Amino acid sequence: MELRVIVTEKASIIQEVTSFPAKMRTENVSLFYGKSQALKGVTLSIPRNQITAIIGPSGCGKSSFLRLFNRMNDLIISAKVEGQVFLDEQPIYAPKVDVVELRKKIGMVFQKPNPFPMSVFDNVAYGPRVHGIKERGILEEIVEKCLKQAALWEEVKDKLRTSALSLSGGQQQRLCIARVLAVEPEVILLDEPCSALDPISTMKIEDLMQELKKDYTLIIVTHNMQQAARASDFTAFLLAGELIEFGVTKELFTSPRDPRTEGYITGRWG
Ligand SMILES: Nc1ncnc2c1ncn2[C@@H]1O[C@H](COP(=O)(O)OP(=O)(O)OP(=O)(O)O)[C@@H](O)[C@H]1O
Ligand SMILES: [Mg+2]
Repeated sequence: MELRVIVTEKASIIQEVTSFPAKMRTENVSLFYGKSQALKGVTLSIPRNQITAIIGPSGCGKSSFLRLFNRMNDLIISAKVEGQVFLDEQPIYAPKVDVVELRKKIGMVFQKPNPFPMSVFDNVAYGPRVHGIKERGILEEIVEKCLKQAALWEEVKDKLRTSALSLSGGQQQRLCIARVLAVEPEVILLDEPCSALDPISTMKIEDLMQELKKDYTLIIVTHNMQQAARASDFTAFLLAGELIEFGVTKELFTSPRDPRTEGYITGRWG
């Protein structure tokens, strides 16, 4: 893979720009909660149809960074964003941007599975219904397709009418992924999607991510270094709101450029 190395004005940040075109990118983004700065001038490209992992110690800004991509930080009154974030080179913080449309394109899966308290079917049909699809046959098609894509169909096809809350944690998380897929996003953000799951469910989600990247661009925040190493193509290491290193996952884990990355991935601290 061809890599071009750009040293930004902050010498500590080395950014690899890969031969993959960027689906999204941030340009010198800072994020403040009131007076406290959670992200410091982060410039990063998210390669299209790849899985990018965000790693770093607790409180370093991973979730804040992820929320930049679908403007979820807008919902936090004290949060203020500086710099720019682009989707297909269009600035998503521009005043004319329709945030509802944006969030349709950029789906999000959270740490704790959060199915709605309704049936399995209605969970997946929820988004399409909100967007105006009423016809039963079409909804059935969408639900089946998305549950299949989320590798859940075989397990739930006979209980579409039962409450989503009766599913196991791992099934609930895949249901949440199916719910995101039902609105046909382009990018899927996952914030520690496996941290509440057992190893088998975790493996299922990781396998699923490999399938999904054929059609979607994925960004995953994970505490679990093995997961980042196993399941991602690119890894970004954040420390105290700064991007320390970004690169091809295999390279970042085998030959990190920055001693701080090395310290973190070898478990010396964090
Ligand atoms: N809604 C908020 N209001 C004020 N400060 C916040 C808010 N959310 C996060 N922060 C602060 O921003 C910093 C980064 O938090 P963030 O949740 O992004 O970290 P994280 O890397 O996701 O941590 P963890 O691994 O524990 O989930 C922390 O100092 C945190 O206290
Ligand atoms: Mg977090």
